[in-house]
Amino acid sequence: MAGELTALVMAAGKGTRMRSSLPKVLHPVCGRPMVEWVVAAARAAGARRVVCVTRPGDGVAEGLPDGVEVAEQTDGEGTGSAVLAARAAVAPGERVAVLSGDQPLISAELLGELFDLHAAAGAAATLLTTDGLDPAGYGRVVRLPNGAVERIVETKDPTGVPPEVLALREINLGTYVFDGDALFDALAAIGTEAGERYLTAVLPVLRERGLPIAAHLTGDVDSAVGVNSRADLMDAERRAQRRILEAHALAGVTFLAPDSTRVEAGVEIGGDTVVGPGVTLRGQTRIGAGCEIGPQTTITDSTLGDGAACVHSFLVGARVDAGAAVGPFAYLRPGAHVGEGAKIGTFVEVKNSEIGAGAKVPHLSYIGDADVGDGANVAAGNITANYDGRRKHRTKIGSGVRTGVNTSFVAPVVVGDGAYIGAGSVISKDVPPGALGISRPQQKNIDGYSERIEKERG
Ligand code: UD1
Ligand code: MG
Repeated sequence: MAGELTALVMAAGKGTRMRSSLPKVLHPVCGRPMVEWVVAAARAAGARRVVCVTRPGDGVAEGLPDGVEVAEQTDGEGTGSAVLAARAAVAPGERVAVLSGDQPLISAELLGELFDLHAAAGAAATLLTTDGLDPAGYGRVVRLPNGAVERIVETKDPTGVPPEVLALREINLGTYVFDGDALFDALAAIGTEAGERYLTAVLPVLRERGLPIAAHLTGDVDSAVGVNSRADLMDAERRAQRRILEAHALAGVTFLAPDSTRVEAGVEIGGDTVVGPGVTLRGQTRIGAGCEIGPQTTITDSTLGDGAACVHSFLVGARVDAGAAVGPFAYLRPGAHVGEGAKIGTFVEVKNSEIGAGAKVPHLSYIGDADVGDGANVAAGNITANYDGRRKHRTKIGSGVRTGVNTSFVAPVVVGDGAYIGAGSVISKDVPPGALGISRPQQKNIDGYSERIEKERG
């Protein structure tokens, strides 16, 4: 049944109360723009088509997921004008779900319940309501003595709203199913209030026409929250975060300190991974099973294999293979690829480099634009001089190489497999496989020096 439904997502509101230059529905909740949450829920609930109402040039249309149609709201203000803007996208006889782009946590399950009730009740309009939220600012549901919905009274500006209406706790959530023909006929009959055409004004019109209106009162307050200010956004973020962590926890992930953990929507985490305090996992991050993440680690758009460990570190656009260890205090930048079982240690920065399986870069190094072979050991304080002021060059360190501490590699340069590098060297010429490369001034000892200067001082 639900599959025959078209969903309209209203996303063209001014959102003035956000005090932002970014359109309201593009504000992210757990890393995903609000409007995308709503589109995903509509699709998961079986909407055949999703049409998003946007303002020309507001940037909302550009970021929408593939396959979402766009209707531009060029005339008028308010949710009624938003729906009218999508009129051409709705075929006669269709049922239409109308959703609000500022209600990010609406769940597919709840939408499904709404769709089912609409069908079962044979209603022309079915709205979603709750009495489980602080009703301030929301539209209040006024019911007739027989329990039927009479109308919605907006309380965004409560002045002049009768106290008995302000005392009502049941609010309209801005999520509806309509018989499309009845909806557009009724919209043609409504005027404006406070400069806006309110979608909710269609309800009394439908009632006067003898068309049945149903309402689904839900206790799912997470699904219900609407975002009109950044204070609301914080509330939605907190609820969304809890929902995301709970889903991972139920799938086998341990969070040692959920209140200080931030996991964005879309991040994947394998079973038996333990996430410590102060961890942030962002974007397209995929963490394998049995990993140890944190404490105090931020990982963005990175992939970690099974059994990897990442402690007190910052990763962006990196790949860490199974069983590798990163940190404490490592910085992996885009294109860093740490091979299986390798180790990147304390105060080490790696960028656009391949670190071979089992290789070690344990202390105080910068590895940029380099290939470090399997099993190599890069000693403390090694630096790749990858930039000559104009261009970047690569350093190639072969497999099994042992470098000395405080070595600079002036790229482009190649160190052959199994070679050794003497401590303190500046390596600017290739080192053949198995050779010792060493480049540093010869040490000179001056005997009796301290005795001599003491004499000179008198
Ligand atoms: C609306 C409802 C209110 C309900 C609340 C639930 C109306 C008149 N009021 O109020 O009863 O309690 O949602 O959250 O519908 N939009 C457009 N074009 C516009 C105006 C708005 O597309 O011209 C979009 C907004 O981007 C937003 C949604 O419609 O996603 C709701 O608009 P908003 O202004 O937030 O309405 P509320 O005051 O929250
Ligand atoms: Mg709103």
